[in-house]
Amino acid sequence: MRIAVIAGDGIGKDVTAEAVKVLTAVGQKFGRTFELEHLPWGADHLLATGETLPPNGYDLLRGFDAIFIGALGDPRVPDNRHARDILLGTRFELDLYVNFRPVKLLDERLCPLKGRTPEDVDFVVFRENTEGVYVGVGGRFKPNTPDEVAIQEEVNTYKGVHRIVKQAFEYAAANRLTKVCMADKSNAMTQGHALWQRVFKELAPQYPGITATHYYIDALAMYMVLDPGQFEVIVTNNLFGDIITDLGATFQGGLGMAASGNIHPGRTSMFEPVHGSAPRFAGKNIANPIGAISSMALLLDTLGAQDESAAIEAAVLRAVKENQVTTDIGGSLGTREAGDFISRVILA
Ligand code: NAD
Ligand code: IPM
Ligand code: MN
Repeated sequence: MRIAVIAGDGIGKDVTAEAVKVLTAVGQKFGRTFELEHLPWGADHLLATGETLPPNGYDLLRGFDAIFIGALGDPRVPDNRHARDILLGTRFELDLYVNFRPVKLLDERLCPLKGRTPEDVDFVVFRENTEGVYVGVGGRFKPNTPDEVAIQEEVNTYKGVHRIVKQAFEYAAANRLTKVCMADKSNAMTQGHALWQRVFKELAPQYPGITATHYYIDALAMYMVLDPGQFEVIVTNNLFGDIITDLGATFQGGLGMAASGNIHPGRTSMFEPVHGSAPRFAGKNIANPIGAISSMALLLDTLGAQDESAAIEAAVLRAVKENQVTTDIGGSLGTREAGDFISRVILA
């Protein structure tokens, strides 16, 4: 397996080192070699060279079996253009239309919701990943004047909505799940989100074993907190998916715990923790590496290495159960020591 590794900025570097450490451990355990290519793209590279990624960057990425990214974002690059090119650019150019974000509580003590157990918090979010407000369509008129007009369009296409909603149903069907909930804001966004309504109603009858429900996104946020146990699969647009998966991350113990895959089924896909570069924590051996390590497990699972992926998940669960974890989730280990523990469990 050839894997491109972009550690990126801030704690992206810290957590990627641990994800790679754990990958090396599973390779050793299962006798598999991973060919890793470390790409230096990020804020340092931009400031040193003036380029966000090389002109053939996306083609280069397409040549790998998978891509791993730590995080991108640096206060020295206030317009965030390298993150736009590297992170959003990869999502768009490689057409990674499924942003798959599991919300899975590993231990009751990590959940800020009163009385909630791992049985109550176990669902996945299918976030549309190639359109919505992220397309960058719009412009400014009379910028930097009191008459400034700023327009940021939301793009919803039949093809784009259809394929993400379909993937959500297909995932449910393949995993013997019986509930898919679509969330939009069609009561206010009467053009674009009417399309979501139409597509959802078109596809739902094709999955007779699955109960298709709908909430407006504001109500969904409320129900996530009030009764997360009712959800199995949630499908929503790019922006709403971004917001509710940070909320979902808190159910799991915080942003440091949440994993994600940016997937085009059958093509080179990209995996990254849900969190960002948390610049204040960078290089301090503080960041929780579990979101990154679990994203590596998701990468392996997607590439068909199920045993390797399961070994990582089991080791992460054990680290949580034995509190061999970082301080954000109540442990006393540093980033590196937390990665070491998980690697040792895998190799034991
Ligand atoms: P952030 O996720 O970087 O951090 C928010 C807070 O969450 C941190 O202050 C910290 O308390 C906690 N946190 C996040 N990751 C953690 C970890 N691994 N361990 C322990 N605690 C953790 O979000 P932000 O502060 O809004 O953004 C910082 C930068 O990251 C910005 O430039 C933003 O654009 C970027 N960003 C990048 C990505 C990505 O690359 N995928 C995602 C989100 C934000
Ligand atoms: C995420 C991040 C990105 C997003 C940012 C960094 C553009 O928040 O992956 O969740 O909004 O998609
Ligand atoms: Mn986000």
